[in-house]
Amino acid sequence: MADRETWATRLGFILASVGSAVGLGNIWRFPYQTAEFGGAAFLVVYLIAVLIIGLPAILAEFVIGRRAGLSAIDAFDELGFPGWRAVGALGVFAGFWTLSYYSVVGGWVFRYIIGSLTGAYLSAPGEYFGAVSAGPEAIAFHAVFMAVTVGIVAFGIRGGIERATRVMVPSIVVLLVGLAVYAFTLPGSGAGYEYFLQPDFSVIAANYQAVIPAAVGQALFSLSVGFSVMITYASYIGDDEDMFVDSGAIAVTNTFVGIAAGLVVFPLLAVQGGNYGSAGPGAIFVSVPTALSEVPFGAAVGFVFFLIVAVAALSSAISLLEVVVSHLVDTYGFERKRTTLLLGSAIFLLGVPSARDTAWLTWFDNIGVNLLVPATVLLVVFFVGWVLAGDAVEEIQAGTETFESLGPVWLWSVRTLVLLAVLGTLALSVFELTGAPL
Ligand code: ALA
Repeated sequence: MADRETWATRLGFILASVGSAVGLGNIWRFPYQTAEFGGAAFLVVYLIAVLIIGLPAILAEFVIGRRAGLSAIDAFDELGFPGWRAVGALGVFAGFWTLSYYSVVGGWVFRYIIGSLTGAYLSAPGEYFGAVSAGPEAIAFHAVFMAVTVGIVAFGIRGGIERATRVMVPSIVVLLVGLAVYAFTLPGSGAGYEYFLQPDFSVIAANYQAVIPAAVGQALFSLSVGFSVMITYASYIGDDEDMFVDSGAIAVTNTFVGIAAGLVVFPLLAVQGGNYGSAGPGAIFVSVPTALSEVPFGAAVGFVFFLIVAVAALSSAISLLEVVVSHLVDTYGFERKRTTLLLGSAIFLLGVPSARDTAWLTWFDNIGVNLLVPATVLLVVFFVGWVLAGDAVEEIQAGTETFESLGPVWLWSVRTLVLLAVLGTLALSVFELTGAPL
């Protein structure tokens, strides 16, 4: 077994986990899902899902990772339950799967950074997105995005991931808040706040079977649970770490960034006439440039915006790749750099259909977020709640005095509330995907 690195500092671990959580999920996916599923009402379900499912689930992954001190699949052997290895493997697979199309969207973002230098997308944003989102150019930029991700992960935990996210996360927060303030100053942006922040609950009543799984899937995806990422990252931390504080910091920062992205995107959409619903995966790539074409310094604002998105996307992509790499390095003693390169190439190939046709990208995204991720989370919370049980409480209480009494409450919620909520979500997702009526 290879010697394992650890995070250089506690802040390094928190920032890397926040960097994993904060990504395209918050800035690209969250606004268009919110637009597609009814605005503020979706936001409410999403926030509830973060609180009652996402947060306890992050803790469940932390418990597995730290107690085992090994990457996601071997962790289950180390804990004495080799039969549960498949749970870790499913999460690793979810990461592998997701990164394939995530990287395509990351490639679009790279393309838009370059487009901002000349303002190329401002004159005809719809046509521009159509031209760059699918086909040879999309494949090329997908390759570049994967290459950068591979480059960072190849340098390992301390040299690569920790160093990169230390700079990335704070800059995302600062730049996004700056843009939200900018959007606030634009005339006509008011309706965007109303759409994003004033819930119309009839939307949920009318379409709960689609809204609930979408919101829960989005919450899990956005928090990076269900990809074995938090298992892997927590495997590098020590017993003195207060995991309640860490998970709280991750959830709060992640939610903050999602809402900040909404406070950028929805006011901008309002400025251009408020066509929220027909957004789709091209939402920020078409609507934001359209709005920017009507405001002063549009290309410069676009440059900052897409730079933020690229940074956020990379800090998440590296976590998805690290999960797969660390499994192979830990288990088989493979050499890190070569393994990273080979895996990156395989993921690139899996992403090629998504880069050729956005219909494939939506399909990959649907299967990943609505099926693989909730299925993994379901198994993780079942394992932690019912199999590890008392040991899980002992583990979560190590490192905290302030929140020690929350240990049993957390276990109770994982065994019941969280488990049932994820089960219900998964059932709704399956019915949605298979078209069965409910
Ligand atoms: N959690 C990552 C994101 O939101 C995958 O982009």
